Amino acid sequence: MSDQTRFLLNESDLPKFWYNIAADSPVPPTPVLHPGTLEPVTPDFLSVLFPMDLILQEISTERYIEIPEEVLEIYKLYRPTPLIRARRLEKALGTPAHIYYKYEGVSPAGSHKPNTAIAQAYYNKKAGTKAMTTETGAGQWGSALAFACHAFDLELEVYMVKVSYQQKPYRRILMETYGSKVYASPTDRTNYGRSVLAEDPNNPGSLGIAISEAVEAAATSNGAKKYGLGSVLNHVLLHQTVIGEECLKQMDMANEYPDVVIGCVGGGSNFAGIAFPFLRENLKNDRRTRLLAVEPTATPTLTRGVYTFDYGDTAKMAPVVKMHTLGHGFIPPSIHAGGLRYHGMAPSICALYDAGHLEAVAVKQIATFDAALQFARTEGIVPAPESAHAIRAAIDEALDAKAKGEKRVILFNLSGHGNFDMGAYEAYLSGKLEDYEYPGEAIAEAMKQLPQVQLPA
Ligand SMILES: Cc1ncc(COP(=O)(O)O)c(C=O)c1O
Repeated sequence: MSDQTRFLLNESDLPKFWYNIAADSPVPPTPVLHPGTLEPVTPDFLSVLFPMDLILQEISTERYIEIPEEVLEIYKLYRPTPLIRARRLEKALGTPAHIYYKYEGVSPAGSHKPNTAIAQAYYNKKAGTKAMTTETGAGQWGSALAFACHAFDLELEVYMVKVSYQQKPYRRILMETYGSKVYASPTDRTNYGRSVLAEDPNNPGSLGIAISEAVEAAATSNGAKKYGLGSVLNHVLLHQTVIGEECLKQMDMANEYPDVVIGCVGGGSNFAGIAFPFLRENLKNDRRTRLLAVEPTATPTLTRGVYTFDYGDTAKMAPVVKMHTLGHGFIPPSIHAGGLRYHGMAPSICALYDAGHLEAVAVKQIATFDAALQFARTEGIVPAPESAHAIRAAIDEALDAKAKGEKRVILFNLSGHGNFDMGAYEAYLSGKLEDYEYPGEAIAEAMKQLPQVQLPA
């Protein structure tokens, strides 16, 4: 066995196709409903928000979708990303397990988010869009789209959840550096933002509210602006599959195959990106890799949310989809993994989880930061708080393998670096972080506000 640590692909190995799980998924897709009529949406409704190429990808069942040359050109700034064997972490844990991580933090914005931001900006440019709107929680998605919009000469306005805007001024400045306008949501720029502020001028904001504002800004622009979403939708998950496709080749270079593949989940895009190509191998080539999604106990969407139809945003402007949900009115606790504070989850992930093809676990905030510190001190990279959830689960797998005396091959997605998250690390280091379990009563109460969907038998 070689002692190689980094597994690097050539530029010529960059995947030329995105992998579409819809082609192989053993579970049928669930309908996407209009938030007003609760009838299946039409392309016309979606075309107010998205260019037609992305709508077609959203409903496509083609197995492989070619990545346009213009997108590959920009991917080449940072892809293929490295696969790294965490030898120093393995040693510190004294585990017989082999731990590999795919490092997406090498992208210009510092996470996996540019994989879809670049594609979305490209298809918008191609369709003649002049400007885009979006929301951002932690600021990772906003900075990715800011970078991508500038690359295709599009303007961008970002509705940034107010609590993150205040906690993370440097993420805002990064978006401004790429040329975007950033507003603390709830804002007084939209009808919905104004209505929220009228009720509570100190509302800290949520992803659900910021989505409503960004959607409203695009929907009321008479076609001048389109909206970009950083997770949840099929086309977003599709664009992220370059991660898993590269991993398959890199695991081959390492002469190993993962027993378990791990990713953190907010809306589900980085997890799907690494997991779906391995799920294809499970479904079609008799592999038996476990695919493990990791979420915070403060937003336990998969592990405790109800699998039902709910609105994608707080103002009920975004489509209604079937997903695990904590309720669209969810105001998340102020945990430091801002990107994991969404009330729902990608419908494709929920359906596969419900049918037993994926596993999920919820981890606590302090244990997550314990893992982040151990990782930073052994492997050198300070992980994004979101990604640290995957590290916690990877370490727990490695310790379980040690307890059972098993050689287990563990692969996780290090979805981003945490160089802009020093406030969170400071809170941890000074003992100010707290654990938070989302209360069951709040979930039960939120379920009373669900849309009453009646599907034809
Ligand atoms: C670094 C990082 N990882 C993970 C996520 C969670 O999003 P998703 O589940 O779509 O990958 C985010 C979201 O902002 C993020 O910034």
